[in-house]
Amino acid sequence: MCGIVGYVGHREAGSIVIEGLSRLEYRGYDSAGLAVHRGPGVFETVRSLGATAELTRQAKEEGFELGGRVAIGHTRWATHGAPSVRNAHPHISYNGRIALVHNGIIENHAELRREMEAEGASPSWWLSDTDTETLAHWIEHCRPRGGSLLDAVRLALGEVVGAYAVLILDVPTGELIAARRSSPLAIGIGNFEVFIASDAIPIVEHVQDIIYLDDGDIVQVEPRGANEVPNVRLFNLAEEGQVERQAVRVELKVEELGRGGHETFMMKEVCEQPVTVRDCLRGRLTPGDSPIALGGLEAAWPHLLRARRIHIVACGTSWHAGLIGKHLIETLTRIPCEVDYASEFRYRDPIVGPGDVVLAISQSGETADTRAALELALERGATPVGVVNVVGSSISRLAGCGIYTRSGVEIGVASTKAFTGQVTALVLLALGMAHSLGTLDRGAYEELKAELDTVPDKIAEVLENLGPVLAAADAHTSARDWLFLGRGVSFPVALEGALKLKEISYAHAEAYPAGEMKHGPIALVEPTCPTVFVLPGDVHYEKSLSNLQEVLARSGPVVAIVTRGNRELPEGVGHVIEVPTTHELLSPLLTVVPLQVLAHRVASNRDCNVDRPRNLAKSVTVE
Ligand code: G6P
Repeated sequence: MCGIVGYVGHREAGSIVIEGLSRLEYRGYDSAGLAVHRGPGVFETVRSLGATAELTRQAKEEGFELGGRVAIGHTRWATHGAPSVRNAHPHISYNGRIALVHNGIIENHAELRREMEAEGASPSWWLSDTDTETLAHWIEHCRPRGGSLLDAVRLALGEVVGAYAVLILDVPTGELIAARRSSPLAIGIGNFEVFIASDAIPIVEHVQDIIYLDDGDIVQVEPRGANEVPNVRLFNLAEEGQVERQAVRVELKVEELGRGGHETFMMKEVCEQPVTVRDCLRGRLTPGDSPIALGGLEAAWPHLLRARRIHIVACGTSWHAGLIGKHLIETLTRIPCEVDYASEFRYRDPIVGPGDVVLAISQSGETADTRAALELALERGATPVGVVNVVGSSISRLAGCGIYTRSGVEIGVASTKAFTGQVTALVLLALGMAHSLGTLDRGAYEELKAELDTVPDKIAEVLENLGPVLAAADAHTSARDWLFLGRGVSFPVALEGALKLKEISYAHAEAYPAGEMKHGPIALVEPTCPTVFVLPGDVHYEKSLSNLQEVLARSGPVVAIVTRGNRELPEGVGHVIEVPTTHELLSPLLTVVPLQVLAHRVASNRDCNVDRPRNLAKSVTVE
């Protein structure tokens, strides 16, 4: 949610920041802006509606110079105030002394404004509808007479309620101050240059050693001569004097950041799944009867095995993976498992405490609600565990132990390979626990492991046979409403299929457990509303088949995702999509793939921007 980039160094700062912003567009893309410091007391800004390409075009049109040694930039996902040039960042303080970009929400912005106005601030100071602009004025309002920007920031942030990652440019000196609370910020120090960004992606093409800032951290970067390293000092709001933070090496290949010849990032990521699922298994899925190797879980392992209850907290696609995780954990370990939307869990005074494990699932590791749910669990004495993709992210650090899904960078806003990575990690977790607890007999354990090992190749097979999926999508491209139905582990798959479709094609799609169909959704069935059944050959097959018949009997068009060789389907099923046979518990890893492709094709046919669907952002760092 909003991306920010800052640069201090000897190269063309404006270009480096714009290039960085283009890497962060998955965080928001409704407007963008840039401020370049030209010299003591002189800076210029350029802002535009739309994403970074628009910003570049706007800069060209205005003859805006990208040269300069210090710059800050922003790509926005609107919270306060509509997407417009007026509301685009950077925002400038009333006295012109600072330019500021911000990711997060200043919850008490109205109160801060009232306080400033009571002390003489003029309403004419406010040129936008954003909470961010109030923060810019507030920082200058707090600057003690003759005080430094650092003093002002410390005082001002002490009064701020909400979440922020901010970058502040001091116009007189070109100094940059960065600060964070609840929103991510990373810093990379290279040869005579410093990079600051919302995540490591814009930094790693320049430097690989990244410092992830902690909550309350404030960084001061003072530019010096062209061949001198800028002065970088780290502080924390809660501590006196300077603090130290360890840098971590981020192994990321720049090739990972491109589309690799695919029409969209989403399709590239869908096609990567045979590799990413294999990467998740590598070194963990051991042969024969040996235990699953999950080194990152060592500290939590005894707590997991003795857990009174496991609570899974997550949002969006990760929540769907959590629902599958519940099936896996309860079936294989017999430990009760609950799955909550993180945003509900944190506000419903959940019954959680010592003896419970709270498992947070998150691709980005930065989702505000998931992080807050985990914080609550920690406060109450539960054992935290993370299933996270982004190494070094807030949730992974907060949990302290867990499983990295190793799915690589996911840029498409609609999550695909991260989902299969999460499900794979949860299979490993449940299998590993079942082995330690002895809840699965040896034969079944080895059989499931052997089957899991074949899944990456089976996903590849699904991807090699997409004809029927594309045909189903083409046949129903203009449908306004869709139903997705499944039972058991196929119900979360149906939810995920419906979510993919609505996220990127804007068609209305609902998912239900197939058994619930008769209690309402069947009223939607008509010739223009396709129903997608996820019915692999499992124990639920016969029951789902009856539901399918009920849809056909009402002239509803049916798309059926089935296991290969399934010939019992009645006539009248318009589109049959086969996936290879696998163990019932592993079937989501195969059945979800056609649904990802179905959504992609419908969205492309409808000329939707697949990678940047309207109103969405990939990383939701506000609640
Ligand atoms: C956003 C994204 C979804 C994602 C959800 C949770 O809504 O658009 O794709 O599933 O956040 O994100 P997380 O990073 O915590 O998995």
